[in-house]
Amino acid sequence: MLSRSIFTVAAALVASATQTAAFAPSHGVQQQQSRQFRSTELKMAGPAQVDLTGKVAFIAGVADSSGYGWAIARSLASAGATIIVGTWPPVLKIFQMGLKKGSFEEDSELPDGSKMVIEKVYPLDAVFDSAEDVPEEIRTNKRYAGLEGYTIEEVAKAVEADYGKIDILVHSLANGPEVTKPLLETSRKGYLAASSASAYSAVSLLQKFGPIMNDGGNMLSLTYIASEKVIPGYGGGMSSAKAQLESDTRVLAFEAGRKWGVRVNTISAGPLKSRAASAIGKEPGQKTFIEYAIDYSKANAPLAQDLYNDDVGNSAMYLCSSMARCVSGVTLYVDNGLHSMGMSLDSESMSDRNA
Ligand SMILES: NC(=O)c1ccc[n+]([C@@H]2O[C@H](COP(=O)([O-])OP(=O)(O)OC[C@H]3O[C@@H](n4cnc5c(N)ncnc54)[C@H](O)[C@@H]3O)[C@@H](O)[C@H]2O)c1
Repeated sequence: MLSRSIFTVAAALVASATQTAAFAPSHGVQQQQSRQFRSTELKMAGPAQVDLTGKVAFIAGVADSSGYGWAIARSLASAGATIIVGTWPPVLKIFQMGLKKGSFEEDSELPDGSKMVIEKVYPLDAVFDSAEDVPEEIRTNKRYAGLEGYTIEEVAKAVEADYGKIDILVHSLANGPEVTKPLLETSRKGYLAASSASAYSAVSLLQKFGPIMNDGGNMLSLTYIASEKVIPGYGGGMSSAKAQLESDTRVLAFEAGRKWGVRVNTISAGPLKSRAASAIGKEPGQKTFIEYAIDYSKANAPLAQDLYNDDVGNSAMYLCSSMARCVSGVTLYVDNGLHSMGMSLDSESMSDRNA
């Protein structure tokens, strides 16, 4: 079921690990680019006001410190939550090696000077719901060698065995093997793969983890404005998958609210130069998709400021805390307000007005 093309994306993700430092920084983030991924980080200002002591947070989709999953983990950790993560098998080894070597030490720093501890890393492939779904080609694939129990149902069981109940479930993952293709050129297989990995995976996660979530818990996912407005370059059915994710957020909020007393929300995040986003696409001699998106946001958003992964982490901390105990079914924009614009300030047709 998991096609070779997904491995191509995986390879691109792994490859981008070594390439990202060489990317030309986008215009808006130049001053902060003092080390790899610097542009994605905002040191939190002070001690968290939210207390999540005694809460357990499972964050699906963490494999390095560049993305939103890591920042959400760090924000929740700063408020006292116990952090456990789910990591995609093809990138598990490189992540574990990084953790062991201390590559993420600096990015683990919390406002009180202590370090975030990831208590446990579970291998998780969110395109498989239960053990029967894993095809032979995956079971025998060398990237999955020595691993078992990485389907959503098995991971939920393992988490239950280790921690009993959890309070916070975060879906911070996406994959679209044909993301660089326009929708008009996307195959059925590519479209459904994007939907499976990026949208149904959230439904399945809540199905399997809901029964082990405490009343008052929160599920959170990450979406992107391409769900509702056309973003050229975000192809392969990824825009469709994000639209599904947002619609499912509302339906799941109703169903999980009534069933388990669990809230379900999604953050529509602005562009961030994460590893996954850096792999989306690049034409020879041009910037990457995500560099264009960051520069466009800086030029056109109501707030002309950099957006860091910690900005999303802090909004996630609010949504996952009891401060948001009556908030469910929302798509919260954390994008410097870009979603509200209907005209591009830097459009050529506006140039004489802007002069
Ligand atoms: N970076 C952006 O500009 C941006 C903007 C809006 C929303 N988002 C969303 O944020 C979320 C996190 O992405 P990110 O950009 O921070 O990058 P990221 O690379 O930190 O996270 C993506 C993760 O998904 C994992 N993954 C891929 N397929 C998987 C599978 N089948 N099972 C389990 N894990 C799998 C990858 O290994 C990776 O760790 C995604 O949903 C993304 O669409 C990102």
